[in-house]
Amino acid sequence: MDQKDLKNFKNIQCDENSIIRDIISRELKPYFTEPVLDVGSSMGDILIPTIPEIRTIHIDVDKIENPKNTPKGHTFLQTNFYDYLGDVGTLFMAHVLQYIDDDPIALNKKVASLNPDTIITVTNRNDDFLGKFISFLEESDIPHNAEVRIPSFPQGYQKVKSTPFTASFKAKTLEELFSQLMYVIFDIRSLDQRNRQLAYKFVEAELSEPQITLNQSIDVYQRA
Ligand SMILES: C[S@@+](CC[C@H](N)C(=O)[O-])C[C@H]1O[C@@H](n2cnc3c(N)ncnc32)[C@H](O)[C@@H]1O
Repeated sequence: MDQKDLKNFKNIQCDENSIIRDIISRELKPYFTEPVLDVGSSMGDILIPTIPEIRTIHIDVDKIENPKNTPKGHTFLQTNFYDYLGDVGTLFMAHVLQYIDDDPIALNKKVASLNPDTIITVTNRNDDFLGKFISFLEESDIPHNAEVRIPSFPQGYQKVKSTPFTASFKAKTLEELFSQLMYVIFDIRSLDQRNRQLAYKFVEAELSEPQITLNQSIDVYQRA
């Protein structure tokens, strides 16, 4: 995905990563065991500042230049999750499941082969505006790839902790909020004119300003 749009979203428009960092630092550090695999890490801006002393491999399908503040024990690798082989203590997946869950059986198989002790996911709860928008896209037959929970994932693991939080996403204009929503959150790469108008009208009717809240949770799973 376009890392510039993503950077804009993560650093300027949305405060989710600073909230996630805060929760990890306050209550989740004991769940990170070496080596940590950060799947779809992008710039690694969640784990670099929170677990600098814990050996971490950051992987992303896109080429990510080593961020300047990369700690000694952190490595960046350009690879697809499905091609990654190696030991994993904690598997960390923040807002990446929607890109790798096309085949839930293959996803569970891949996770089983990596055999992590702990899996930590960050996902949208979709019980807010986002949930309403997803229902609208589905009812309107507008193809999308929203982050929707897969009941069978992660197979063989049980949830041991769940920390809900709410982030806010603000844009300068409704048009900008709409474009980022469609691309960064729903992974819609192309949309025909008719569907774009339909979806934009929905957003216009629902929101009085270019701002939404995003209910999310950080979930920790360990082997059942
Ligand atoms: C929405 S971003 C999340 C970035 C980061 N985890 C965060 O929460 O700030 C999703 C990232 O996953 C990466 N990605 C998508 N498919 C992938 C795959 N099959 N293997 C590894 N990374 C992938 C994308 O390139 C993108 O950087």
